[in-house]
Amino acid sequence: MQSRGFLAVLLSGCTFAWACADGEILDGADLTEQEGEGERAFPGMVGDLERAVIEGPGGPMEVEYEAFEGRAIFEGDIELNVGEPTLRSLGSKKEMLWKDGIVPYAFHKKLGQSSRRDITTAMETWNRLTGIRFVARTDERDYVEFVTGKGCDSLVGRQGGRQIIHAAYCKAGGAMHEIGHALGLWHEQSRPDRDEYVEIHRGRISPRGRHNFNKVNGLVVGAYDYGSIMHYRPNEWSWTGRPTITPRRPLSPGVVMGQRKAPSSGDIATILALYDLTAPSPDQGPGPNPDPKPNPNGECGGLDYKGRCADSVVEWCESGKLKRYECAKLGKGCGWFNDREGFDCVDKRCVDLNYTGRCSGATAEWCKDGVFKRKDCAAAGKSCVLTESDGYYCE
Ligand code: CU
Repeated sequence: MQSRGFLAVLLSGCTFAWACADGEILDGADLTEQEGEGERAFPGMVGDLERAVIEGPGGPMEVEYEAFEGRAIFEGDIELNVGEPTLRSLGSKKEMLWKDGIVPYAFHKKLGQSSRRDITTAMETWNRLTGIRFVARTDERDYVEFVTGKGCDSLVGRQGGRQIIHAAYCKAGGAMHEIGHALGLWHEQSRPDRDEYVEIHRGRISPRGRHNFNKVNGLVVGAYDYGSIMHYRPNEWSWTGRPTITPRRPLSPGVVMGQRKAPSSGDIATILALYDLTAPSPDQGPGPNPDPKPNPNGECGGLDYKGRCADSVVEWCESGKLKRYECAKLGKGCGWFNDREGFDCVDKRCVDLNYTGRCSGATAEWCKDGVFKRKDCAAAGKSCVLTESDGYYCE
């Protein structure tokens, strides 16, 4: 493992009490997707439980984590920087931030288009709400690389050099969460003061998940933020199906604990304070694009023939003219068609799926040229696995 410099400071999702009484959700109309479990670096797998002492901003703190394939995974989706022989100590707050709020990023060449689209949406959302900029890496030393893989995880804060974020299959909201870690945020429910705000039902937590509910002795600023995109979902690590975390006080209307729709006003206030940024005014429109490019296509605004999706509408550029088509008219959705055509109308089941596919139990599911495909691996005496060249496949 490469040497990485620092662990980030523990930060709550909320910095200013006036800004985030309990985390108004800015983008939220439909907030129903917080059911079930959240981001996992190694979904469905159990690692060896290990302990280490790390230097926290409040002094040394003991943490429990799971070891998988030489990686230290904390609270399900946070990768800790394991030094030798103990975890590396914390740097100062400024050392783990991204200079001038600019995060150079790269996509691994095997990252599928649908994942790139979700991750781009996540970067654009953070950019629009906070002014943090994501720029395609050229030769910057420190950068994040989005890599394919079945899980979702990130290190916390800028680590120095290349640092990996896995966010290929956690959708745009999960990618916002992982990017939140990379910007310096830890999980909201790990705050030392969390017991005043939430009740942890230990009897409902699966034995392998119990260590993920420890508190972390870090810096806390601002009010507890139930609506933070960095908060666990209510059923996290539940083995009874009943909630493992419940709020101790009524949530304000519109606030959903464990939501993955958008950063809350508390998350935004924290990032603005940390990075000394001013919130972009809605009148000014979004901040600079994650990957600013000249606009050679006139009204197409940089869009090429490969196009993009705006919900179920596909938009593309043809002879300098912006074209749109409502896929719903065909009973379809908009999604990645193939590398040659780009985005087009596809089977609705392909909207969130690309050729890399996924496993649904022992069934491999993927999409080719907008057509949904599936193969029952069990019927062939095989299991569904992630392969390097073909994505999810029977082997
Ligand atoms: Cu997380």
